[in-house]
Order: sequence, then structure tokens, then C-alpha cells
Amino acid sequence: MTQGSGEILGWLRGRRWFAGKDRRPRSLKILDSSTIDATTAPALDIALAQVDFADGGHDRYLLLLTVDEGGSSSDAFDSIERLGVLGDLMAHGGTAPGSFGAFHFGGPGLDPSSPPGARSVTPLDAEQSNSSVIFDDQVILKLFRRPDFGPNPDLQLNRYLTAAGFEHVPAQVGEIVYEGVLGGGEVTMDLGLAQSYLKGDDGWAKMLSEVRSLLEPPGLSGDDAQLRAAVEERGRKGLEELEELGDVTASMHVTLSREELDPEIAPETIRAADLNAWANDVGASLRELQARGISPDELHSGELEARLEIFRRLQVAGSKTRVHGDLHLGQVLYTPRGWMLLDFEGEPLRALEARRAKQSPLRDVAGMLRSFSYAASAGLFHLAAPDTSEWLGLQPVADAWESLARQRYLGAYLRKSHEARYLPDDRETIGSMLSVFEIEKALYEVSYEEGHRPEWVRVPLRGLDRIVREARSHASS
Ligand SMILES: Nc1ncnc2c1ncn2[C@@H]1O[C@H](COP(=O)(O)OP(=O)(O)OP(=O)(O)O)[C@@H](O)[C@H]1O
Ligand SMILES: [Mg+2]
Repeated sequence: MTQGSGEILGWLRGRRWFAGKDRRPRSLKILDSSTIDATTAPALDIALAQVDFADGGHDRYLLLLTVDEGGSSSDAFDSIERLGVLGDLMAHGGTAPGSFGAFHFGGPGLDPSSPPGARSVTPLDAEQSNSSVIFDDQVILKLFRRPDFGPNPDLQLNRYLTAAGFEHVPAQVGEIVYEGVLGGGEVTMDLGLAQSYLKGDDGWAKMLSEVRSLLEPPGLSGDDAQLRAAVEERGRKGLEELEELGDVTASMHVTLSREELDPEIAPETIRAADLNAWANDVGASLRELQARGISPDELHSGELEARLEIFRRLQVAGSKTRVHGDLHLGQVLYTPRGWMLLDFEGEPLRALEARRAKQSPLRDVAGMLRSFSYAASAGLFHLAAPDTSEWLGLQPVADAWESLARQRYLGAYLRKSHEARYLPDDRETIGSMLSVFEIEKALYEVSYEEGHRPEWVRVPLRGLDRIVREARSHASS
């Protein structure tokens, strides 16, 4: 196989999915590899590589390489049609032996007599942290660029949900898995997930255009109640779609909470220790932001701590289950078959094991609710500069949409959630938990926006504001 690991490192550093851009790579070594197609030149290799950094750390990468006769290698995504062979290998259940193990290709949902990729092989035209390739406009294969030991939640949960008959993920039809002995131990690494490729509209773009159509002239006007009625009228279709999304989100949680046999997936009761650990994490983020100079007043630190305290003392908090892990409008697709949920890999910066940890499903719900807040604000940012008279004039319309979006999504979510028993019965407890998970997301957003888009810090701060205002009005009622 490849001779020039320095050469690979050279082009690897320019790839969007290379995560070590601000670190100094020292060397690259191939952990294992296999030639999967040598019928035409250049040959196609699959490889697991490890990049060692000058700071002492390392990252692992999955590479698909074309290797010419002189041993010089390039990213196979630059000769995309060569990847057609992956469709064939999955459909036939092929195995490609390496030096320390083997790369296994599986295709539970593929027909070996017509393997995907015979007609077309195209790259996914999207910025992403992995690399996806589309076969015949029908199957999309996502190659996990930074694989790790143990199951990848995207493959694991899509495999499970497809087998359970859940209709709101694109069916999982194939996979690539490595099994071998690396670093002295037996390891399994999930490398790729193939699903049916569906035509649809991205949820974020769809809801952003909803908000913009409400904000653009002719503008809506009136007092709060009139605005709400007008948004409800003009935004009816979008709000109904969010109701469907609430229903689909709960169906996913219901399906995940029904597993009884597989201990990786079966729900467990949320204990005091879980609540305590989750609250401690949120408390730590709060103090970190304060240490970075954000005022406790702006953060409403005292009141947020009070919410955390209530959360710590909950007696009953339902079940923790496997969850989507990074649910927001950018992860859902509106198709003729309704909403489809994509990308179960969780938050990419966290370790695989942490991403597989069971959580309260309400954490997913909180992610989606924060995303509505971002859609409302992105619509505003599109039309006005912060704090101008236009901005202040449009804000009540954006607020009315966000409030209705929340209400419709949550209403439908809670109705459907009753098909299983993973949430506490008490509506107030659900509200307390949800507010803490929203606080968690909003604090993360404050930290992110501070570093990237300081003008947007107002978005999560306003979210925190809403949470404490609601808690106050609840306490006084
Ligand atoms: N089954 C599918 N059918 C149609 N489009 C899909 C499908 N799966 C993924 N896509 C499209 O590809 C995009 C990227 O997919 P995905 O989010 O799984 O990749 P990713 O590498 O994890 O991306 P990111 O870096 O944004 O997390 C999606 O936003 C969606 O537009
Ligand atoms: Mg992702």
C-alpha cells in the first residue's frame, strides 16, 4: 500500500473535515489498510490513519485513497466515480482483509443483483464534517471521517430505528465496519452508514423562510394578541409542520424507549446522581462564562442557579434513553413522507462514549426549541441591524412566531410522548427539566457566539431572559 504518508499528510491538512487545523501535525501512520479495487488503475485503498500532533495528542482518520503505480496517493473523493465499488461491496457483503483485521461491508437493505452506483456516483454538495457520496440518486453513504473504537451512534441508532420500523429516518441499507487488533487490543470501528437518499427541504431553510415571509412587508402590526393571531393566520402552514415535527420527535423517543433487551439502548431510570451530575455541568458552564467576564446580571446567574437547585431535588425525572444527541432544524428534512431525522452522531466534539451515554429525551426537545429561537433571530438579522427602529419594530413579530412555534411543537410532542412512559407525569417537572436543558444549550451558545459572532450573543441571552421571566411569572401565579 501507500508509501508516502508525508504526502497524505500534505493534502489531508487542506480537507474541510481535517479537525487539527490549528495544531501542528508531526506524523501520519497507517494503522491498517486494504486495497479494495485494483481492477483499474489507480487502485482504490481504504485506510485507517493516525495523525500524531506536536502537542502530544492524536486523531484517527478514515481515508479512501487512489494509489497510482508509483505508490503516490490522493483522496479518492477527487476521483469520485472510483467510489462506485463501495456500493457493490456493500450489496454483496464483501470483506477486505487488512494486515491486522478486516474491513467489512454489509448491505441488509441492498439488492446484490442491482448494487447502488451502477448509474451515477456523486459527492454530496454540502459543507460537512464527514464525507458523503450518493449512488444513483437513491443511496447516500456517509463515511465517518474521524472514527473511534466502539459503536458510532449514527450507525447504531439508524440500524436500530430502521429495524424497529420507525418511518422517520431514511432506511439504513448498508454499513462499513472495521474489526481487528490495533494497539494490542481487539477493536471494532464503525466507518460508514448507507441510507436511502430522500428528496426534501432542509428544516432550517424552510423555517427561516417562514419567519422571513412574516417579517417582510407588508408588515404585521397590532398589540401582542393581535400579532399572535396574525402570525397564526399567515404562518399556519409552517406551524402545522412544526406540530408534525413535535409528533415525529416524540415517536422517535417512544421507539427508543421501548427497547428492552439491548442494554446499550434500553431505557434506565434517571437517578439523583444523574440529575446532580447534569446540573453540575450546567453550573460549571455558567461559572466559566462569568470567569470570562460576562456579567452575572446579563446571565441571570442567581435565577439560573435556582433552576438548577430545583432540578437537583426532583424526586421523579422519568427515564434516560438513547437520544438523537444534536437535534435542531438543520438536522431534519421535510419530504413527501413527512419529516425525516438525520445525523444521529451527536455533538462531534465529544468522545464517542459520551455521545452514546443515555440522556433525558427532553435534551433533544430543548435543542429543537433553541433552534426556533435562532430561526426567529436569523430572520430579524436578515432584515435589520440590531437595536435599530426596524429591528425593534419587527422583534414582536419574531417573538410571536417563536412563542407559537414552541407551543405547537411542544404540544404535539407531549401528546405523542404518552404512547410510552419515559417522561414524568407531572407537567411542572417536565417544565423544570426542559428549562435546565435549554439553559445548558443557551450557555453553550453564549460561549460559541462570544468567540465567533459577538452580535449574536444577544440571541442566547434573550433565551435565558425568557426562561427566568417565565419562572418568575410561574412563581407569582
Ligand atoms: N438520507 C438522506 N437523504 C437526503 N439527504 C441527506 C440524507 N442524509 C444526509 N443528507 C444531507 O446531507 C447533509 C449532511 O448530512 P449529515 O448531517 O449526516 O452529515 P455530517 O457530516 O454529520 O454533517 P455535519 O458536519 O453538518 O454534522 C444533511 O444536512 C442533508 O442535507
Ligand atoms: Mg454531523
